[in-house]
Amino acid sequence: MRRRTTLALWTIFDERQRPLLSRPATDVDLAWLTQADAQRLIDDMLTTMRQAEGVGLAAPQVGQGLRLAVISPDVDQTLPAPLVLVNPVVQAIGLDQEIGEEGCLSIPGVYGLIQRARQVQLTATDRTGQPYRLTATGLLARVIQHEVDHVRGVLMIDRAERITHGQNRLS
Ligand code: NI
Repeated sequence: MRRRTTLALWTIFDERQRPLLSRPATDVDLAWLTQADAQRLIDDMLTTMRQAEGVGLAAPQVGQGLRLAVISPDVDQTLPAPLVLVNPVVQAIGLDQEIGEEGCLSIPGVYGLIQRARQVQLTATDRTGQPYRLTATGLLARVIQHEVDHVRGVLMIDRAERITHGQNRLS
C-alpha cells in the first residue's frame, strides 16, 4: 500500500501562493478523474485535511487549480464517509440566512463572521464520476458554501462582515 502523503497547505500570506487561491479553478476532466494520479490527489487531500484537523479542503489550498474539494464526515452525522466534491455547484434553497464564524486553513489565525444560506443544494460528481445531489443545512451547508467559494477563487475574508479571534475548526 502506498504511504499516506500530507500535502503542503498554501496560504494567502505567501505572495506566490495567493494568486491561485484567489482565482477561479478549472473544471475537473472526468476522464482524468479515473486515473491513478487523480485518485491519489483525492486521497492526499483527505489525509491533509485530517492531519490539519480541518473540516474541509479544496484543491487550490494545496496548489491545484481544480474544481475539487473534500469535506469531513465529522461535519454532519448524516455523512457516512468523507464527501468528495468534483465540479461542485451550490444553490441556496429559500431565503433564510445565518451568520456563523469560519476559519480557513489558507488564512491561519484569522476568523470571520460570515452570512450564508441556511439551506443549500449541492450538485457535484463523486470520485468515481457519478453525479449526485445533496440537500444540506446548518454546518454542512456552511462548509459546502465555503469549499465551493474556494474553487471559485472566493475566500472567507472576502465575505466576512467582521474579523474575529475564534477557535472554530478550519476548512
Ligand atoms: Ni478555507
